[in-house]
Amino acid sequence: FNVPVPKNEPVKDYSPGSPEKKAVKEAIEAYRSVETDIPMIINGREIRTERKLRVSPPHDHQHTLGYFYEGDESHVNQAIEAALNAKKQWADLSWENRASIFLKAADLIAGPYRARINAATMLGQSKNAYQAEIDAACELIDFLRFNVHYADEIYRQQPSSSPGVWNKLEYRPLEGFVFALTPFNFTAIAGNLPTSAALMGNTVVWKPAYTQALSASVIMDVLAEAGLPDGVINLIFVDGPVAGEVIFNHPDFAGIHFTGSTKVFQTIWSTIGANIHKYRSYPRIVGETGGKDFVVIHESANVDEVVTGLVRGAFEYQGQKCSAASRAYIPSTMWPAVEEGIKQTLSKVKMGGVEDFTNFVNAVIDERSFQKITEYITTAKKADGVTVVAGGNFDSSTGYFIEPTVLKVDDPKYRTMCEEIFGPLLSVYVYEPNQFEAILDIVDSTSPYALTGSIFSKDRNVVERVTDRLRNTAGNFYINDKPTGAVVGQQPFGGARASGTNDKAGSSLNLLRWVSARTIKETY
Ligand code: NAD
Ligand code: ALA
Repeated sequence: FNVPVPKNEPVKDYSPGSPEKKAVKEAIEAYRSVETDIPMIINGREIRTERKLRVSPPHDHQHTLGYFYEGDESHVNQAIEAALNAKKQWADLSWENRASIFLKAADLIAGPYRARINAATMLGQSKNAYQAEIDAACELIDFLRFNVHYADEIYRQQPSSSPGVWNKLEYRPLEGFVFALTPFNFTAIAGNLPTSAALMGNTVVWKPAYTQALSASVIMDVLAEAGLPDGVINLIFVDGPVAGEVIFNHPDFAGIHFTGSTKVFQTIWSTIGANIHKYRSYPRIVGETGGKDFVVIHESANVDEVVTGLVRGAFEYQGQKCSAASRAYIPSTMWPAVEEGIKQTLSKVKMGGVEDFTNFVNAVIDERSFQKITEYITTAKKADGVTVVAGGNFDSSTGYFIEPTVLKVDDPKYRTMCEEIFGPLLSVYVYEPNQFEAILDIVDSTSPYALTGSIFSKDRNVVERVTDRLRNTAGNFYINDKPTGAVVGQQPFGGARASGTNDKAGSSLNLLRWVSARTIKETY
């Protein structure tokens, strides 16, 4: 068994007349014409309860796509039991067998499931065709394939032996079960968190965000078809705190693989800390959390590159990427050209449902997000020292639509320059070029996060200086590019400070968190 370095899955073409577009349109139509039934899956069995919750497209919230079934504490206990029962057989299965299941899952998504998982992501999470393709298809396929490659490398790493002594490092899974708790915004992340832990021999209880239920159900279908044994990954729809109450009190809780907000992660960490004496082992705590991602522009930057980087970085997927550009620092000498470029570009951008493939901007995920983001905009419109440069309008009558909005703020510490908003809102601070060094201090100190960031400059000395000065301000740092769109195998992804434990999703650093190694020495 030899796992060569995989190639990144190519992004398919969704232009008019392409077969991919036709296939995804048909899959969208299929989802829109029937109500999909989405059960929990525990030990391979479909579980339905009395509590049916509606799934609707965020851009068309009166339409019903289907229903999922919400469980309670008893379902969490059933899922834990299923994971614990499946554990021995799964961990004892040869590495080659485990790996082949996930490689097959990748092939299924690349082939027969591609249109369906993209359509589910487009409708359920309001992502346009391109954004769905790079997430639910390409990134998830890449996670599955690259994880197998990195795991293979890990298993091969062995200590040295000497005459009369044979040493071995046995990469065993954690003792107990792993909890995967996933966010709404990336189908790839939702798929990666349970599968990466399972690849290393663990069994998993997986609770996705309710707003990702539709694409979560496709992931479970793919894994079942790929041959994943019952009980290895158990999907539950249970309110987060309710699930947490059972899981974080369980002696066999072995670790959490989390992606979501900083606040939720910190609450979880405190709970685990308070319960630490209850567990058989110290649980692994892996979390990728919030961001306040920056773009620093130097006078030497190219205006067109800056405009493209800002518009794509801030507004693709409605700014609901943890990596989205949400604060920019622009020299006064460049601002008029950048402002004009942003206005012109945004004037051509279309907003609407995902069914029309020409819409660049779709809806934000739900009513709660809509309220949160629009509160920032409404308050900003009334604030002194804030100018609305573009957008600023919103409407939730048919879908949760918010125009891509750019604010120019006079105070670099204004709340929209510091707090994670998670929506299509970019704040700009215009500085005098001779303040450049002071601006770097501001970038580094005005937010607790350190996820992604960019420098735009054509001056190599400036690039080097900024890269060094902001070494702790971003886990993923970009030079002359937008701060989004990390590719598995090329830019391992993760942030520091309040943005996470920085275990770099889709890398050996992450996979190593899901093993508990045993050293064996034999003398002869
Ligand atoms: P969220 O924190 O609201 O939810 C994440 C998961 O935790 C969901 O499944 C949710 O139901 C569950 N949850 C919520 N409260 C809980 C509680 N008290 N106990 C247990 N579980 C609970 O996040 P979201 O809104 O789904 O996603 C957006 C957030 O995720 C943003 O902050 C974004 O920056 C972050 N994110 C980070 C990365 C990264 O790689 N750093 C990637 C994607 C998203
Ligand atoms: N991996 C995603 C990005 O880089 C979050 O945008």
